[in-house]
Amino acid sequence: MSSNTSATAPLFQSFTSEKIKLSNRTVMAPMTRGFSPDGVPGEDVAGYYRRRAENEVGLIVTEGTGIDHPASVSGASIPLFHGEESLNGWSNVVKEVHEAGGKIVPQLWHVGMTRKKGDLPNEEANPVGPSGLSLDGDKITEPMTEAEVEKMVEAYAQAAADAKRLDFDGIEIHGAHGYLIDQFFWEKTNQRTDRYGGDIVGRTQFAVEVIKACRREVGPDFPIIFRFSQWKMNDYKAKLAETPDELERFLTPLVEAGVDIFHCSTRRFWEPEFEGSDLNLAGWTKKLSGKPVISVGSVGLDGEFTSFSGANTTSLDGLMEKLDDGEFDLVAIGRSLLMDPEWVRKVREGRETELLPFDKAALKQLY
Ligand SMILES: Cc1cc2nc3c(=O)[nH]c(=O)nc-3n(C[C@H](O)[C@H](O)[C@H](O)COP(=O)(O)O)c2cc1C
Repeated sequence: MSSNTSATAPLFQSFTSEKIKLSNRTVMAPMTRGFSPDGVPGEDVAGYYRRRAENEVGLIVTEGTGIDHPASVSGASIPLFHGEESLNGWSNVVKEVHEAGGKIVPQLWHVGMTRKKGDLPNEEANPVGPSGLSLDGDKITEPMTEAEVEKMVEAYAQAAADAKRLDFDGIEIHGAHGYLIDQFFWEKTNQRTDRYGGDIVGRTQFAVEVIKACRREVGPDFPIIFRFSQWKMNDYKAKLAETPDELERFLTPLVEAGVDIFHCSTRRFWEPEFEGSDLNLAGWTKKLSGKPVISVGSVGLDGEFTSFSGANTTSLDGLMEKLDDGEFDLVAIGRSLLMDPEWVRKVREGRETELLPFDKAALKQLY
């Protein structure tokens, strides 16, 4: 049994849900790094994840990794989740993390309309999305046909099957931040009139089919985490749900499709989501869905991540209160863990004075 200081004890309780058991409540947030030449994660990437496992991170969510579609990512060094070489690279990552006693899930990603025409790794592949609209609402390409949407669903399913085959501990589906799945959720980018469009429930249909197809491949016992956000890359004030009632209408089809854990992405975990309650997005999601939830956003730091500038360390007291109250079950940590592989261990050992401020120069390294 590992010792921990009482101030941070809530973070070091074990977590047991129907399908996964974790030694503590810490999760490494998914963070795109761009250190995988030709889409292949190498030894340096495996070492990067292994160091987090060695230093007690409860669950690692990998950086977003591209499903099997020519326009799934923008950039030649974003890791892919298809093709023998990339999957072998991931297999090695899993082996290293497991050897160090950690748990790891891949974040399955398609960027949709955020991709620019001509982006690597497939310069000729056009961006695709529900209505061919950029996040600013400009028409860029034709809407995906139903056949294209159905094929895309199968690309997610194949990735889920591969994740299980490679011995990952589950999957996380990236449905947040204005990427493909979120473009289906968001009214501004989804103007379809077929079964994938319409009201907030209709706009969940693509995600529902993705989740069900993944579940079909991985069976009933393999954890499926689903990440979503209100905010979009180009619009921090955007909202899918203005009220708890709308949030419930959004979540219900996803729960019924087979999500096990929701990862509720916010930029500042302490902010209430709706008026009249202190609950944050994760807190509301837990209450409305009955599922375990991961919260995230500026844990231990005083500046939200989208500024991508530096940020200083802050007290963890507010986080501990919310965790202790059961508002959420797990806590994802992004930049602090990007900066410092030992962050979790230091917190458990009460070495708060040794925690490092976030320096954006860290983005250029794999510490
Ligand atoms: C460099 C960087 C890359 C990121 N890439 C992803 C990503 O691939 N997928 C994702 O869902 N979120 C991504 N995020 C968001 C993080 O997962 C997290 O939600 C955010 O950084 C807030 O947590 P923090 O304040 O602890 O850093 C990224 C963040 C950073 C800093």
